[in-house]
Amino acid sequence: MALLSRLLAGPRSEEKELLDGPLPDRRALLGNLRDLAWVNRWAGGTAVVTWALDRLLASSTRRSFRVLDVGTGGADIPVALAEWGRRRGLALSVDAIDLRPEVVELAQSEAASEPAVSVRCGDALALDAPDGAYDFVISSLALHHLSPSEAVAFLSRAHRAASHALIVNDLRRSRTAWLGTRLIANAVFSSTEAKFDGPLSVLRAYTPEEVGALAARAGLPCVEVHRRPPFRLCLIARKRGQATGTEIASVPTGVSCRQTR
Ligand SMILES: C[S@@+](CC[C@H](N)C(=O)[O-])C[C@H]1O[C@@H](n2cnc3c(N)ncnc32)[C@H](O)[C@@H]1O
Repeated sequence: MALLSRLLAGPRSEEKELLDGPLPDRRALLGNLRDLAWVNRWAGGTAVVTWALDRLLASSTRRSFRVLDVGTGGADIPVALAEWGRRRGLALSVDAIDLRPEVVELAQSEAASEPAVSVRCGDALALDAPDGAYDFVISSLALHHLSPSEAVAFLSRAHRAASHALIVNDLRRSRTAWLGTRLIANAVFSSTEAKFDGPLSVLRAYTPEEVGALAARAGLPCVEVHRRPPFRLCLIARKRGQATGTEIASVPTGVSCRQTR
């Protein structure tokens, strides 16, 4: 099955996206981040994270949570999460970090009207949060920017920073996803950079099997990797205590909590 999936997905690209290179044009960068925000809003990006949180919070009686978003881009997901939480009577306070100062500057201005979100520079590979500092650590469309060894280091460190769960939302590499993303990018995106980076992101993305293997190498004890529509995957790595639903949520019936070590 893993071999078939690998054959169908093709090899993972190591080509750099424009977002990884020099970002001299503020206007172009803003266009790129706003196209990403469009995808998150209308093509399921934010929904993957709220879906995962819904599962994790199903039987929780707590009403306030601290969240760290790693590789936040334009910080539209943190803002959407704060609003989503409010609609459910939850207070989510989100610290959002991104590697690139140019991105952080724009994200701070995009999120300026949302007091529950704060944005700063930070590297996924050098997280400074103490162990368990956040209830949830999330990242969206950032994992594919990391090489396999970087991804392992990130997953391990991010999992330690979470007291309840790590949620990783990304594209899943497949030929269909590449074609679908190309069509969406050309039809909807206004930024030339996003039109280029979108389909390339799919080619750089990991398959669900590869993400499971990265999580195993990172030593994460209790991992689920879900395929989510349209072309996404979602890794949920609970902390050991959470796997039994002792504090925040019960593991829903029928969901296997795969021991990776
Ligand atoms: C494709 S964007 C995704 C933005 C947003 N999370 C979303 O879902 O739309 C990837 C972001 O990850 C950031 N990034 C890449 N490597 C990073 C690292 N090592 N640490 C923190 N952020 C990183 C990039 O600067 C970029 O803003």
